[in-house]
Amino acid sequence: MSTVSVAITVNGKEHKAEIEPRTLLVQFLRDNLGLTGTHTGCDTSQCGACTVLVDGVSAKSCTVLAVQADGAEITTIEGLAPFGMLHPIQQAFWAEHGLQCGYCTPGMIMTTASLLARNPDPSEEEIRHELHGNLCRCTGYHTIVNAVRKSAELLAGGATALPIDQLAD
Ligand code: FES
Ligand code: FES
Repeated sequence: MSTVSVAITVNGKEHKAEIEPRTLLVQFLRDNLGLTGTHTGCDTSQCGACTVLVDGVSAKSCTVLAVQADGAEITTIEGLAPFGMLHPIQQAFWAEHGLQCGYCTPGMIMTTASLLARNPDPSEEEIRHELHGNLCRCTGYHTIVNAVRKSAELLAGGATALPIDQLAD
């Protein structure tokens, strides 16, 4: 089977690999790199569980071929904060109970990161519009919207990543 060479920077580290041309970016992240924080929900571009940042913009990694990401910079949920620490957006989801089972959460958080990078103070309508491609079966969305608002507040206030044990109730 023919393969192609790719060089993809993920969470600040370049990874060179020989892959089948049909390899999806989500497969590359999970299977080649072991970054299983990026979830696969539907595999058909509907649920958003696989959302990552591609050159800083949110993208559903089940709809991107790894070869299309050749030369790109990818950020996954693992890359938001150092291991054992929570990024302010993660802190906000914790504080506002923006998750239950957590399956959708990495995608929700990466979509939030993309939104707040270009719009640091979004309205509720803008938040709901941005999240329309991310499905959640548990929360009813209200706490997620609150978490995005809280994320904006924390980031505007200069919040930084914190160790997880500092957040425990
Ligand atoms: S797994 Fe990619 S959108 Fe559902
Ligand atoms: S928290 Fe369970 S799917 Fe969203």
